[in-house]
Amino acid sequence: MIQISNPHELQRYTNHTKESIGFVPTMGALHDGHISLIKRSVKENAKTVVSIFVNPTQFLEGEDLDSYPRKLEADLKICELAGVDCVFLPNKEEIYKKDEPLVKAPKIKGYILEGLKRPGHFDGVLQIVLKLLNLTKATRAYFGKKDAQQLFLIQDMVKRFFLNIDIVACDIVRDSNGLALSSRNLYLSEEEKKKALCLSKSLKRATRLIIEGERDCMILKSRMLEILSPLSVEYVEIVDRKFNLIDKIQIDNTIILVAAFAGKTRLIDNMWV
Ligand code: PAF
Repeated sequence: MIQISNPHELQRYTNHTKESIGFVPTMGALHDGHISLIKRSVKENAKTVVSIFVNPTQFLEGEDLDSYPRKLEADLKICELAGVDCVFLPNKEEIYKKDEPLVKAPKIKGYILEGLKRPGHFDGVLQIVLKLLNLTKATRAYFGKKDAQQLFLIQDMVKRFFLNIDIVACDIVRDSNGLALSSRNLYLSEEEKKKALCLSKSLKRATRLIIEGERDCMILKSRMLEILSPLSVEYVEIVDRKFNLIDKIQIDNTIILVAAFAGKTRLIDNMWV
């Protein structure tokens, strides 16, 4: 496994690679969710590149940029064991210049839900992902469904900017209690971890009600909110797979989303129905 920190060096590496390249972008503190993306990439491509970069432009003022978990040594071990060929570890100064062209998230779908609570977050995500996709020249890039709106906006950017890459959507990985894996789970105390289970429980309740025939999104949301009451809820919303808000569940075309704080930690989760 090679480590590259200079973007031009990565370009040279990917230019010379004639076989398929799978790319897994991450901000590090790798967990089983990332490992499942990496393993899938290793299986489906001749070479796999993983990037580890805590991207400052997607954090808002006052968010957890400085405290975001950094575990480089462990991350490199994980990548090596999972069969990664190249780890890209850029630094901020080489990736961003003071005055440079910007990518803006769509005005509507980039500014609802996560984008409403974190305005500008998706501008930063799209900016870095565009750079990384261009640098890695990957055949396929792997993203988790947990960040469902991010995944949608990246798929949309790839379409709208005519990028030649397959975006592969990968299932959410949960711990044995149902908690969706996230690097931010490292912030949770044992007590908060128990409370955080309300997110997946609320989604399970909604799914059960849908299986029983409930289609009304208002009813489903209010039943979810009952379970979420120990947390400080930011939103519970139901959208179609193109992120339009909907009133009635459309089977195979719906995502139920929830964002809530367990203590000071902001968590998101969702269920694809
Ligand atoms: O999902 C993430 O970890 C980040 O948003 C990403 C895609 C690596 C961009 O910084």
